[in-house]
Amino acid sequence: MSILFNERTQTFHLYNEEMSYIMAVLPNGHLGQLYFGKRIHHKEDFSYLQERVHRSMTSYVYDDDDTFSLEHTRQEYGVYGTTDFRHPAVSILQKNGSAISDFVYRGHEILQGKPKLSGLPATYTEDPGEAETLAVKLQDPLTGIVLTLLYTIFAEGGILARSAEFQNEGKEAVHLTRAMSLCLDLPDCEYEWLQFSGAWARERHLKVRRLEQGIQAVDSIRGNSSHEQNPFIVLKRPTADETQGEVIGFSLVYSGNFLAQAQVDTQDTTRVLLGIHPFGFRWKLEPGESFQTPEAVMVYSHRGLGHMSRTFHRLYRTRLARGYWRDRERPILNNNWEATYFDFTEDRLVKIAEKAKECGVELFVLDDGWFGGRRNDHAGLGDWTANKDLLPGGIAGLADRIEALGMKFGLWFEPEMVNPDSDLYRAHPDWILRTPGRHASLGRHQHVLDFSRREVVDAIYEMMAKFLAGAKISYIKWDMNRSITECYSEGLPADRQGEVFHRYILGVYELYDRLTSAFPEVLFESCASGGGRFDPGLLYYAPQAWASDDSDAVERLKIQYGTSFCYPVSSIGSHVSVTPNHQVYRNTPLYTRANVAYFGTFGYELDLNKLTEEEIAQVKEQIRFMKRYRGLIQFGDFYRLSSPFEKNVTAWMVVSGDKREAVVGWYKVLNGANMPLSRLRLNGLEESLSYKLCEYGRESSGVYYGDELMNAGIVTTDTRIVDGALDKKHSCDFDSRIFVLKAEG
Ligand code: DGJ
Repeated sequence: MSILFNERTQTFHLYNEEMSYIMAVLPNGHLGQLYFGKRIHHKEDFSYLQERVHRSMTSYVYDDDDTFSLEHTRQEYGVYGTTDFRHPAVSILQKNGSAISDFVYRGHEILQGKPKLSGLPATYTEDPGEAETLAVKLQDPLTGIVLTLLYTIFAEGGILARSAEFQNEGKEAVHLTRAMSLCLDLPDCEYEWLQFSGAWARERHLKVRRLEQGIQAVDSIRGNSSHEQNPFIVLKRPTADETQGEVIGFSLVYSGNFLAQAQVDTQDTTRVLLGIHPFGFRWKLEPGESFQTPEAVMVYSHRGLGHMSRTFHRLYRTRLARGYWRDRERPILNNNWEATYFDFTEDRLVKIAEKAKECGVELFVLDDGWFGGRRNDHAGLGDWTANKDLLPGGIAGLADRIEALGMKFGLWFEPEMVNPDSDLYRAHPDWILRTPGRHASLGRHQHVLDFSRREVVDAIYEMMAKFLAGAKISYIKWDMNRSITECYSEGLPADRQGEVFHRYILGVYELYDRLTSAFPEVLFESCASGGGRFDPGLLYYAPQAWASDDSDAVERLKIQYGTSFCYPVSSIGSHVSVTPNHQVYRNTPLYTRANVAYFGTFGYELDLNKLTEEEIAQVKEQIRFMKRYRGLIQFGDFYRLSSPFEKNVTAWMVVSGDKREAVVGWYKVLNGANMPLSRLRLNGLEESLSYKLCEYGRESSGVYYGDELMNAGIVTTDTRIVDGALDKKHSCDFDSRIFVLKAEG
């Protein structure tokens, strides 16, 4: 890995084994983009990549040089209004009403490692040798604003982390109305665009379309990254697939309003923008003040989507997630939400926990309903004191009873919210986000607390910290069940209202930071009505997230498959629930529910007392299996093998770092009569190693070379559907199989 600067040609070359990123100072002093792709040899001069073409008539040129027009120049941080007509990376509203800026190169620094981004989650290094950072300083001479573009290249993987910082070194206040984290101009548009879209209970479904002239975008203006879209997109060459071809992933380390956009112009070049959504964003920068954008991470892969995903997984698992739980196998938990909803007593909870303990569960989680006057979702949020009618011994008493069983205890909070029917709201009606004089809309009967205000964050911190200090709590599920409307803070003046969405998220990050620092061994799981805030920003504080409120195994195939494009298995909260399933009323076999949930953090979302003896025996076996293999599954290398968005069969596998062990999940949605022959080609194995292949739960096994398994494949033809099947078990809808591979010798 290296960052080289050539003084004569004013060219920067950032490279490692996998990629090169090349920029140069342009004739007008702006920073131009020359190349991003597979590693190429270093040279002093790459200026031919500026492609300066003489264009007549319609061209707007710089200083009468008709080979240089910003409109036809690839830039690092495009500005609007000075001959570039594409959507810009930045817009700064000045006192005289102008929004034009002109950022020219002033100098740069090359740093070992990676500087922290103040108040924001970001990837990090543990040892300065893991990465180098280039900080390029540009200045707009008229306003005096200094823009620092940060580029961190990691030694391993085609990773480039980017962000921008604005420092007002001028004499007048300005308003930033657009400050993207990343702008990347690519020389052509031969790409497919991948996005991960959905809604509550069907998050992160893969959608693919060809890039076309014009703008394609995904975004959120809901205050949270959202169920609807994820702050992650991919551009891939049309011929690229899971195992080969050029792919670039773009991920924003942020949990609030975002925009991810690709604009293809009439010259067929592509501009990608990623950052805080400019809609409604207006950040006042007084002289001497600065603004730091969130971080955006780009991953380049010339070995297909699978390699891109594994690069993100490794980075986000080990250099974004932090703390005690980062590298630890996650406890198998039993959450009472789908078991009881609001209908529980302390004794009933302990009964559920006792059965869970008998089965091998390690952590019992009490979900919503334990506090204040909360007996349904109309009241109580904000009153973080235990409801003594339900829990006579309080949370500490219940936690002691759970610990006495030999289990850990976890607790649900929804820190950012308040019900109008709560003591907190009665005492502080002004603590919510609402616009003066206007109706304040409710969502799930609750308001959003104004986390842009320090006193609000402080008050919630005090309440939560008291619990964590006073009871044996090992895990927190941090929920967030509505988006923001009527966004306005009574704590800010009129000309700072455009800052509220971002300041809100900074408040959320601050509360997370204070709690995780004060209670470093508590495992945090984020949640937002399922996967409404499944993003890298929260992964920095909470190493796992409840992926979706849809716990149906078949629905989960798409959700978990889509999630896997960016996020590691260790971050995907996935549980076994009852049938008929509570979201889609589908009946799936218990083994299939577990076979899907294994590829995540694993747990149960049901009352095990309600299962038959035969089912309990299965659950005990499932837990034994997961305890044996969770280290591999949660921290190994993940390979997608067959897509639920294309086929009736979904398959994926995880391979250990040393390639000596692997676990494969195979899932068939619908059964059919007289089905065709089928094989599953594996991936990620060592060609010359021979592996013992066992189908989990069955006697059958065989020994095969890695190259056989990856090229000829496992025979998955269903012999059970024809008469005379040996084990007399018939295949069925929603069938699934788990295969375990171990290298011999
Ligand atoms: C939404 C979450 O996603 C559920 O798991 C559960 O915690 C409920 N909220 C509780 O209100």
